[in-house]
Amino acid sequence: MCGIVGYTGTQQAAPVLLDGLARLEYRGYDSAGLAVRNGSDLAEVVKSTGKLRGLIEKTDGGRSLAGTCGIGHTRWATHGEPSQTNAHPHVSGNCSGSGSGLVESEVTGVHNGIIENYLELKEKLSRHGYQFYSDTDTEVVVKLIDYYYKKYKIGPVDAINRTLVRIRGTYALALMFRDYPGEIYAARKDAPMIIGIDGSESYLASDVPAILNYTRTVYYIGNLQIAQLRPGEVHFFDLNGDEIQLESTQITWDAKSAEKNGFEHFMIKEIYEQPAAVRDTLTSLVTEGRITLEAAGLSDEVLRGISSVRIAACGSAWHVGMAAQYILEDLAEIPVRVELASEYRYRKVLHVDGELLVVISQSGETADSLAALRKAKDLGIRTLAIVNVVGSTIAREADHVLYTHAGPEIAVATTKAFSAQLAAIYCFAVQAAYVRGLIDSDQYDGYLRELASIPDKIERILEEKERIQWFAAKYANARDIFFIGRGLDYAISLEGSLKLKEISYVHSEAYAAGELKHGTISLIEDNLLVIGVLTQKDLFEKTISNMAECKARGAFLMALTSYGNYSVEDSANFTVYVPKTDPHFMASLAVVPLQLFGYYSGVARGLDVDKPRNLAKSVTVE
Ligand code: AGP
Repeated sequence: MCGIVGYTGTQQAAPVLLDGLARLEYRGYDSAGLAVRNGSDLAEVVKSTGKLRGLIEKTDGGRSLAGTCGIGHTRWATHGEPSQTNAHPHVSGNCSGSGSGLVESEVTGVHNGIIENYLELKEKLSRHGYQFYSDTDTEVVVKLIDYYYKKYKIGPVDAINRTLVRIRGTYALALMFRDYPGEIYAARKDAPMIIGIDGSESYLASDVPAILNYTRTVYYIGNLQIAQLRPGEVHFFDLNGDEIQLESTQITWDAKSAEKNGFEHFMIKEIYEQPAAVRDTLTSLVTEGRITLEAAGLSDEVLRGISSVRIAACGSAWHVGMAAQYILEDLAEIPVRVELASEYRYRKVLHVDGELLVVISQSGETADSLAALRKAKDLGIRTLAIVNVVGSTIAREADHVLYTHAGPEIAVATTKAFSAQLAAIYCFAVQAAYVRGLIDSDQYDGYLRELASIPDKIERILEEKERIQWFAAKYANARDIFFIGRGLDYAISLEGSLKLKEISYVHSEAYAAGELKHGTISLIEDNLLVIGVLTQKDLFEKTISNMAECKARGAFLMALTSYGNYSVEDSANFTVYVPKTDPHFMASLAVVPLQLFGYYSGVARGLDVDKPRNLAKSVTVE
């Protein structure tokens, strides 16, 4: 996610801003920038791609940017490739180039979030004479504020209010106005931002670590509220422009725990970020009740022309592919073959006309997945990448790209990116089913309603984490654990088993439940834990009987199913329930208790769950 900082006070702003951005580096970014008011009526903007070091060198550690009021930003690209032009801050002036330097501009701003309707607003502003130098949604918002500010000759708070009413999406904004030197304005909706005060100094940031060195007195600005920062004072306003009072809070965290927002590890923080990751990914793909894949070049015609789908990926991304095959074949009746990228890249690939190769990758840099993509392209196969990192190699080389919006994933074990990938797959499958005439508009709307309910249902599961934590501690020293399921439940079992192995180093296997009796059931012995995944109604009884076969041989059974299937307790020794949703989407809910099980198993064994031994976040070598 992007990082935002702001400062106005008695000190030079640039060094404070750079220090704050450095403390937000853990959030992941691909470019950075500053804008400082140097006492004159212009803001000086400096931007740099790559790591913060580039910006520090460009500004001589901030010394070359004189001024006591400024804003800064580290960008995690969502709209527009990582580049100096797309880096923030953005300006309202019709400047050429990258919007850097001393810029004739009324409004200068930085933004964290996704503006869903920025393209329609961009067209509106273009009709009013605005020109755009970047591909970002942020530049559109800054220019829209400028538009209202000039059209209605109103102050910053009213111009911002009019803008907030007009834009849709998520945002944390920090803005400076030429006519208001020494002041910073901020507003947010569903993106983090805090305001800090200390003596004659005022600060704002996306997250606590950026200002913890300067103050522990912070205000949590609410959704659709506006803050006006002056040196040592802050005023808050509501959407009507009326001043409101907010209570300050004293931060008690230390800096390290603040990076994790108070969570013990990045992994658990990211498990808790899943509702937002799914919601943001769906927001980016669903506009006004319609799934819009045109931006990825996946027109209805392209979707109708697909004769078969092959999915190539690694690790958890491959598990998403295993889930996708059931969903795509059942909903869109498209034949699917799922391949380990490391296998696909070396074998003789026989393909048919109209085949689509889908590469799924969080990092967009995995060597085997990239090789699979390149092989398919060499064979003339159309390629689609489902990727979390904008501008990554796989994203750049695929014919089509659907970005997930999980934000940067720090923990080596993927969780929120996995869930975001599933959300992208659901949208692709439902849209393909609709344009191929396999579902009608009522069914289409029904699926979209169910998709929209997933984030809240994940929240409900997370509220009951203690029970899973207790159970994981009981089995933290197990020698071997089995996960079994059929159909989609088998794909979920695969991910549950990998989470456990890579985080706790406990050996486990995921097995298609019907396959156990063909040999592996000989491993079942007294007290061995078998976790049965039972989310698919038409396979429920079959898997129950496979679990009973294991119990008859001494196994201890945990069942994972949806509320209402209480008969499972006749067989299982321990049951975890998740809310119901459409069977096609149940992986998004069933995977969460298994992520928690793996996480708490690792914690119980005192392991470094964010950086497990032998593993890298992105395997960029063979
Ligand atoms: C998942 O928890 C692992 N960290 C690993 O299996 C990962 O999913 C795999 O290496 C693929 O990475 P990618 O999604 O970045 O391509």
